[in-house]
Amino acid sequence: MGAGIAQVAATAGHQVLIFDNNTAALDKARSGLDSTLKKLVEKGKLAEQSAAEIAGRTKYVSSLADFKDCGLVIEAIVEDLGVKQQVFAELEGIVAETCILASNTSSLSIASIGSACKKAERVIGIHFFNPAPLMPLVEIIPAILTAEQVTKASKELVDQWGKVTVLTKDTPGFIVNRVARSFYGESIRIYEEGIADFATIDWAMRSVGGFKMGPFELMDFIGNDINYKVTESVWTQFFYEPRFKPSLTQKRLYEAKLFGRKTGRGYYNYAEGAVMPKPVEVEELGKAIFYRVISMLINEAVDSLHLGLATPKDLDLAMTKGVNYPKGLLKWADEIGLQIVLNILSGLYEEYQEDRYRPSVLLKRMAKEGKTFY
Ligand SMILES: NC(=O)c1ccc[n+]([C@@H]2O[C@H](COP(=O)([O-])OP(=O)(O)OC[C@H]3O[C@@H](n4cnc5c(N)ncnc54)[C@H](O)[C@@H]3O)[C@@H](O)[C@H]2O)c1
Repeated sequence: MGAGIAQVAATAGHQVLIFDNNTAALDKARSGLDSTLKKLVEKGKLAEQSAAEIAGRTKYVSSLADFKDCGLVIEAIVEDLGVKQQVFAELEGIVAETCILASNTSSLSIASIGSACKKAERVIGIHFFNPAPLMPLVEIIPAILTAEQVTKASKELVDQWGKVTVLTKDTPGFIVNRVARSFYGESIRIYEEGIADFATIDWAMRSVGGFKMGPFELMDFIGNDINYKVTESVWTQFFYEPRFKPSLTQKRLYEAKLFGRKTGRGYYNYAEGAVMPKPVEVEELGKAIFYRVISMLINEAVDSLHLGLATPKDLDLAMTKGVNYPKGLLKWADEIGLQIVLNILSGLYEEYQEDRYRPSVLLKRMAKEGKTFY
């Protein structure tokens, strides 16, 4: 992830230093960048001269002390709070007073990372999506002590890099990794209840919803280890909020190391010669699956708006630019009709009597008043 972010910054014209305490990882970053630049030149997407300049602006350093003249440091090391805090505290003693210290963390609180620094005002979350050079979205996450100027400067800088930035709060999963949870969780629930199999649910979300990938193929693509861990982390950090509750189905895959494509098997079998199961393409079933999942996703986006996580525009941009949703969820809510979404959720809530299905109070208010998001 760090090498990808370095490529973005060097391409934008910055002098970039890359450090990793594992020299093999540093070598891998160097050969990875060299081969990416070579491929871009071969495909005619980058001039040879520009590729040489980008490579020339990127230095691989052997010590954090080399960062002393940096104006911005983006940390993308192992997802471990203790290690990150140690590195931030060390960095603070090396860089100038004005240097911004950012973390690319996906799941840790920026406030807790910043607490390792004497000057927590300079600490911010700048969260890229993988692969950083290709994914347009970057979440900008000021923590409780982050200075306004640091937020402004970070956002302006990443905007200049040609990225789409969204401003959000220092809450678990930020926007994307929180709002997307139901795409996976509700789909697994539908499977667990025997309503449809993986292939049928994937088919429904693709063909009725227009998603590029269905939830199970996407989880297999991301890796069930990563996807399960993110779900568990968001759920526990939200004090066991039932909407984010992980599933035993995915936990067992995780325990059995059936991580998906990278291990050859996850929800599907990717072994050579394995036959992919065929979906049950029944329109009524497809629509029922889609409307249940999309209503849960919309509810999360609406509740995020209700809690001031981001603006409607940024909430929608996050899902279209960060995870390629075909439409922003609030726009989708307007199109489907807020009262229809509310009826679906209220029906589920009534039937299951589970907090997981409670409609956001903002959805209820807006539906009652006949309002729309746009
Ligand atoms: N992989 C993703 O899809 C993704 C997406 C967004 C954000 N992130 C975040 O980016 C960060 C890195 O993720 P990744 O997938 O690239 O991890 P990774 O394990 O591939 O890379 C982490 C690197 O950090 C190095 N490292 C560990 N401790 C270090 C230290 N003390 N000093 C210097 N280097 C050290 C390791 O040697 C390793 O090369 C994490 O915080 C993760 O949450 C990852």
